[in-house]
Amino acid sequence: MNDLLPKLRRAFIGLDNRYPLADGSSRQRIYLDSSASTLMMKPAYEAARHYLRHYANTHTSVHTSARITAQTMTWASETTLAFVGAEPQHYLATFLGSGATAAINRAAAGLAALRPERDVVLVSSMEHHSNDLPHRHHNNTVAHIPLRGAGAHPGTVDLDALEALLEQHQGRVNYVAITGVSNVTGIINPLKAIADLVHQHDAYLLVDGAQMSAHAPARLSANNIDLYAFSGHKVYAPGSPGVLVGKRELIAAMPPHEVGGGMVGAVSKWGYDLAAQLDEREQAGTPNIVGTITLACALKALQRADMETIFTQEKALLRWSLEQLHQCDTITLYGDANASERVGSIAFNLGDIGHGLVAAILNDYHAIAVRNECFCAHPYVQEMLSDEFARLNIDGLDNQQINRLFQDRRGMVRASFGLYTRREDITALVAALKDIETNIDHYRPLYQGDADGHYRHRHFKPATTDIFDIEQTLNAQLDALCNR
Ligand code: ALA
Repeated sequence: MNDLLPKLRRAFIGLDNRYPLADGSSRQRIYLDSSASTLMMKPAYEAARHYLRHYANTHTSVHTSARITAQTMTWASETTLAFVGAEPQHYLATFLGSGATAAINRAAAGLAALRPERDVVLVSSMEHHSNDLPHRHHNNTVAHIPLRGAGAHPGTVDLDALEALLEQHQGRVNYVAITGVSNVTGIINPLKAIADLVHQHDAYLLVDGAQMSAHAPARLSANNIDLYAFSGHKVYAPGSPGVLVGKRELIAAMPPHEVGGGMVGAVSKWGYDLAAQLDEREQAGTPNIVGTITLACALKALQRADMETIFTQEKALLRWSLEQLHQCDTITLYGDANASERVGSIAFNLGDIGHGLVAAILNDYHAIAVRNECFCAHPYVQEMLSDEFARLNIDGLDNQQINRLFQDRRGMVRASFGLYTRREDITALVAALKDIETNIDHYRPLYQGDADGHYRHRHFKPATTDIFDIEQTLNAQLDALCNR
């Protein structure tokens, strides 16, 4: 029996925050916005804080702290590869930027430079913008692979459609870029089947693992994934970098993306040699050392708690949550409810109530933190909303009212899970949504909507600095220092 997992679920900073509510009371916050950013895992944060006593730059090698840093960074790299199931002899992990976006941009630029004659990239129709726009930016043609199913309930990538596109662009597809898990619906794509198909057509597979890494094992070697990008801030290590894990041979063949200190051998006024070591060549400048170490600590903790168990338990919590949400009479739940592989990201709307209004009431009256709008996945969200848009009745409305109506409906509310999400949180969400359904006529006049679909309470405007003020916090630290 793994006794770490239940304890780890409660070991996050901020789980006990209380926030003021519009009715004058205060309540413990329920954080259901982990697809945007997860909370900080306390043991990982504490371990990295201990490392800080030995902090030094990775470009120095002679003194003891620098050697401790180098050894700890090597451990971080090995831990990351083990976490994503990537054999170290075949894969390399590099840490860059502040999320998956930097890693995907690096991969897109590198692959485009490697095979310029292959000018087509295929991306799925369920991508976050960060796994779509970099490919449009660096390549000639990007085609979108349709999904199984249609309307409000699409499923995974359609493998027949992918095959048809690979054949249609035979010899021109450089790579296929697909998310492991949708950031909107939590639907998981069949990565092994996709990799097999993609490789049969001599293309590479780049997987966006931003939403996968904290929720499901990525199994890079077993799935034969060429490149895998993810964000540390979505795996319980806010402030950590993005990660690109890729096949060594492939990364070695790509020209370096960034140049500067640390990634070179000899440099003269007339030229420079690249560093002989691939990991050094891929790391221009001083890396985010503390963030990388914090992230690796979080990954190691997840691995010790067992990712397979975490995955199984999250799927069960999701199934239960979807059933519970059906208690709300007017709810529309997006994505294929029968998708066999799906984790905790639930996108929904409540009848004709604007997504912005629902999210604001959840925050102001129930202390439930969710995200709303289109989640940086506009084409996917708009496709799921297209039938509802077609049914909107605009008879008799003026332009301003029409615009308002569309902004209200142009988006969804999303409740997304982390390791700390419990059944009690979902029960509270369902109760809050039922309250909104029942009492919407009471709530509506209390809010001022704007032309972008955002809602602000007319009277409840707590100053966030009354809850947390960084300068005051710093001053308290400085005062304590002076009085010591
Ligand atoms: N990509 C993040 C999300 O899905 C911000 O919310």
